[in-house]
Amino acid sequence: MIKRIFQFLKFYFSANTLHGVHSPFVFDFCRKILEDQRNFYAYGDLVTLREQLRQNKSVIDVNDFGAGSLVLPKKKKRISEIAKTSATAVHFAKILFKTALTYQPKSILELGTSLGISTLYFSKANDASKVYTIEGCPNVAKVAQNNFQTSKAKNIQQFTGEFGQSLPNALKEIESLDLVFIDGNHRYQPTMDYFELCMKKSNENTIIVFDDIYWSDEMTKAWTELKNDPRVTQSIDLYQFGYVFFNKDFKEKQHWKLVPLRWKPWQVW
Ligand SMILES: C[S@@+](CC[C@H](N)C(=O)[O-])C[C@H]1O[C@@H](n2cnc3c(N)ncnc32)[C@H](O)[C@@H]1O
Repeated sequence: MIKRIFQFLKFYFSANTLHGVHSPFVFDFCRKILEDQRNFYAYGDLVTLREQLRQNKSVIDVNDFGAGSLVLPKKKKRISEIAKTSATAVHFAKILFKTALTYQPKSILELGTSLGISTLYFSKANDASKVYTIEGCPNVAKVAQNNFQTSKAKNIQQFTGEFGQSLPNALKEIESLDLVFIDGNHRYQPTMDYFELCMKKSNENTIIVFDDIYWSDEMTKAWTELKNDPRVTQSIDLYQFGYVFFNKDFKEKQHWKLVPLRWKPWQVW
């Protein structure tokens, strides 16, 4: 815990806001993704859905992938508990929405659907994109499917199964990846493996977003290696998320740590 606080303070005191950014690309990222405070049309319905899930006392049998690819005996969990512990926080879900809105990816891949909250933020950002999402637990995936139907989301394709098998299967169906969100199995080797698999379908404009980059020593190690990967031309660290870019137009490779101008960390974490 002390280590995590120290890590956070280190991030906080070395991060830039929009005022300290000279790169036009990163300035644009700050303006459109971190500083845009507009209340987009989709936010209201998604907040309502999140609240309904947080109140839902139904119990389902859940495969616990906590130890990575090992499928442990099923645990009984309330949907409310899953909604409270697994779903991306509202502030960061909006960041995902604005990422999809800004870069208009044609195809989005998410590892870790859970109840489908973040999937719906991607889906609602751009009807024209196709959102592929993978979840290991079939019962959780079923709840997500129901959420997609009630939200009238027509651009989502679900895959179910442990990422080790389901990711290669999904990639066979996906021609090219424009945006990837890796939000499950936060361990070093699997994260590196998913990155390599996704790279096979990436292009110069692909963006890969890693969740929980400081969650553990393993994830911090993975993030350090990923941002230093020679194929990565620019990286942005938001503490919760790490973004990597491959665009070759940048004059030099740079790593950015960014916070919004009017930042309230206590509302976020
Ligand atoms: C943090 S939750 C995803 C939250 C979701 N993206 C959201 O914001 O609403 C991670 C999900 O990944 C799934 N998961 C974790 N490890 C997995 C693995 N090795 N294979 C398949 N699914 C896995 C879990 O079952 C869990 O539902």
